[in-house]
Amino acid sequence: MRTQGVIDRYRKYLPVSDKTPVITLGEGSTPLVHANRLGPAIGFPKLNLYCKLEGLNPTGSFKDRGMTMAVSKAVEEGTKAVICASTGNTSASAAAYATKAGLACYVLLPAGKVALGKLSQALMYGAKVICLDGNFDVALDMVRELGADGKITIVNSINPYRLEGQKSAGFEVVEQLGKAPDYLCIPVGNAGNISAYWRGFKQYKELGIATSAPKMHGFEAAGSAAIVHDRIFPNPETLATAIRIGNPASWKEAVKAAADSGGKIDEVTDDEIVAAYQLLARTEGIFCEPSSAASVAGLIKHLQSGAINEDATVVCVLTGNGLKDPDMPLKLCQPDLTPVAADVDKLRHQLQIN
Ligand code: F0G
Repeated sequence: MRTQGVIDRYRKYLPVSDKTPVITLGEGSTPLVHANRLGPAIGFPKLNLYCKLEGLNPTGSFKDRGMTMAVSKAVEEGTKAVICASTGNTSASAAAYATKAGLACYVLLPAGKVALGKLSQALMYGAKVICLDGNFDVALDMVRELGADGKITIVNSINPYRLEGQKSAGFEVVEQLGKAPDYLCIPVGNAGNISAYWRGFKQYKELGIATSAPKMHGFEAAGSAAIVHDRIFPNPETLATAIRIGNPASWKEAVKAAADSGGKIDEVTDDEIVAAYQLLARTEGIFCEPSSAASVAGLIKHLQSGAINEDATVVCVLTGNGLKDPDMPLKLCQPDLTPVAADVDKLRHQLQIN
């Protein structure tokens, strides 16, 4: 039997009909893992923490939930090509789903600021890739203009179907946990995903499937924290390149999600992001990309400030797979990769096996 993707699974809550062709790679249904070692490791033993592993989607990020919708609707509407600006993951996802649909895919990336794995994906799936002399916000402005006549479908999260697909992650969290968590911690870049999760939680509450909805705690990188400081960052900077965005497209909806849920959008520094990235790998065996770890960095910050109760049930969304960014671990771990002779005694000594 074909693995059910987001559209088949949540058809009745999505703007699709029997006429919508379903372009799927089997996205969604990602694991929600009980992260029981991390709380004690940071001095919060009563914390009830879960991680939603969105890096296990078909192209390695949460974007696939929205892309199955955007590309299916694009095919239904008769388009022949899709276009996006991207810090990497959207481009990988768009390229894969466009190929699956037989559409052309055009991608604008901020030159030199996209993790190697993501660039490799877009190339392998056969997209036409342009590295732009400008950041993500400039690339998105270009895409808005290139797609303005409607001949090419824009599949950034300004495409209304993207967030509809992505709200399915909120549904899944409620189903997997058997209830809504007290808090959802999530990275914020272009601010689409926090908005989408809130839609999902709100809808399940309105339908009576959940009795409550979580407080939404979103985290921008400090060098790109437009929403936190209520001003555009013309030159956003952070090593978390996926969220290196200075003028988020879903700014207003994200602010509303945080306010309506009783949550908060805050910022985390690159040092806090890197510490959380390493902590997840070393305490939980979870390898996410640096930007994803902004959710855990933010959780730690809010546990320490008391903004999140120490005995709360919390879900951290880990948006992308660690393998997307193979350079970062090598920079951090600085391994000695010189070959060692195949001599058991020497190896025993070197590995300090007694
Ligand atoms: N985490 C990862 C791994 C991302 O790739 C992104 C966004 C985010 C978090 C933030 O999500 O934009 O909905 O607030 N990446 C986009 C891209 C911008 O082009 O791949 P958001």
